[in-house]
Amino acid sequence: MADLTGWRVLVTAGGTREPIDPVRYLGNRSSGKMGNAIAREAAARGATVTLVTTASPPDFEAEIVSVETAQEMAEAVWSRVANQDVIVMAAAVADFRPAHTHSIKLSRSDGPPVIELEPTPDVLAGVVERNAGAAVVGFAAETGTLDRAVDKARAKGVDLLVANDVLADGSGFGSTTNQVTVIMADGSVDPWPLMSKQEVAARLLDLLSKQRSGLD
Ligand code: PMT
Repeated sequence: MADLTGWRVLVTAGGTREPIDPVRYLGNRSSGKMGNAIAREAAARGATVTLVTTASPPDFEAEIVSVETAQEMAEAVWSRVANQDVIVMAAAVADFRPAHTHSIKLSRSDGPPVIELEPTPDVLAGVVERNAGAAVVGFAAETGTLDRAVDKARAKGVDLLVANDVLADGSGFGSTTNQVTVIMADGSVDPWPLMSKQEVAARLLDLLSKQRSGLD
């Protein structure tokens, strides 16, 4: 199927790593599988894909932009917003980073460090600000309840928000499957069954394809 031929799709994947010193970082449990699945599916269906990722380069045709921190992800994504048809933000981006990065390894003998944190850039908010016509899809990693996700969809100004409970069995970080709930811009909520991340990707792109061709 080449139904996405002519589309330009930008996907973020993986978890950012915010350095404390040259050895240690603040990170999260994202493996990049969810974002990779979306990028792989889009490429297989004919789209021109850019994957901005902290994970290892995947085995399909795409422009791969390797990044590590939220700041690097922001710069890579924001400079590519123009001319995209779809932007999917599946990466787990740190909300806070160490305010100072030590240039040499902290020593145990100096005792536990006090690490002051500062906010990172909100990559998704910057995308929405710069957007000129792409469908923007955010993800929301929630723990135990998706109650906050509808408000998040509204606050983030996205066309779709894909919420997942990262504490649920078979969902969230590192798994090959995911149970997601899709929240539309009008606040309507559609829980999808547990399925493989590749199937989530396919269904998400089907939905975007229908929306963009005005069928839904
Ligand atoms: O990579 P896997 O192991 O397959 O796991 C998949 C996943 C659990 C990481 C994925 O399904 C997921 O939920 N991704 C979003 C994780 C997240 O950061 O959620 P959030 O609710 O904190 O952020 C909401 C949205 O804002 C996300 O689209 C995020 O990319 C974006 N964001 C967040 C913070 C920030 N500083 N900049 C952002 O752009």
